[in-house]
Amino acid sequence: MSAALLEVEHLAVHIGGLVAIADASFSVPEGSIVSLIGPNGAGKTTAFNVISGYMRPTRGSIRFAGEAITGLAPERVAERGLVRSFQRTSVFMGCTVLENALMALHRRGKAGLLAALSPWGAVRREEAMLREAAWEMLRFVGLEARAETLAEALAYGEQRRLGIALAAAASPRLLMLDEPAAGLNPSETAECMALIRGLRERGMTVLLVEHDMAMVMQMSDSIVVLNQGRIIATGAPAEIRANPEVIRAYLGSEAAHVAA
Ligand SMILES: Nc1ncnc2c1ncn2[C@@H]1O[C@H](COP(=O)(O)OP(=O)(O)O)[C@@H](O)[C@H]1O
Ligand SMILES: [Mg+2]
Repeated sequence: MSAALLEVEHLAVHIGGLVAIADASFSVPEGSIVSLIGPNGAGKTTAFNVISGYMRPTRGSIRFAGEAITGLAPERVAERGLVRSFQRTSVFMGCTVLENALMALHRRGKAGLLAALSPWGAVRREEAMLREAAWEMLRFVGLEARAETLAEALAYGEQRRLGIALAAAASPRLLMLDEPAAGLNPSETAECMALIRGLRERGMTVLLVEHDMAMVMQMSDSIVVLNQGRIIATGAPAEIRANPEVIRAYLGSEAAHVAA
């Protein structure tokens, strides 16, 4: 097993008087797909918020690529190669697919949007490279033919795929996806899974929060189960599926969700 890219140790997050995460420790090996699952309110999104710098933990430490990132701002965390997507996508609906791809690459690029608009030759060359990268990204997610379409005119599944592509634009080392398959039909879910696998093949490590258990069981190298802010199990899909405490706390009541 490869070294841990992300190490979360004794993480606690108190929000007001409420304990969103009590004491959670887990790690994500480089090159793996790890899923964080659990019932609503378990603390999954809070964990994402804290790891990616959008919230400060009450206690505990987060290490990424061997260095402490606890309490760093989201932009600093992203610069180091840890990027998350949101439950609602970050797609700009009034822009075309290609414009969205370009903006994502600009945002993550060194030059930035303003510099790219400058008349300097060097920056223009960079602009040409960004365009090429944007087209490559659209080919990769299967949206090349939709490049000139407004994002708002895309099918829902295409919008979600574009959202993942935008988060992946900077080739982060760790991509954290919060419910990427929410609201997708079975064929869109299959496309979403193929896309995530493709990102892993490109060298990205993936931390996934997802309620679609068929997808989680098929995609994950390992699964971390959170319940009421505590980790109740960690292991390979077959172990998790057979774990009595996980079935009691989550999977038992998930039958309807799996079928949905
Ligand atoms: N901003 C917030 N203010 C108050 N309570 C919150 C906030 N964010 C999360 N919580 C609470 O923290 C707990 C964990 O929530 P969350 O991380 O969203 O769970 P999950 O994503 O697993 O459904 C829940 O009890 C939720 O109500
Ligand atoms: Mg959530």
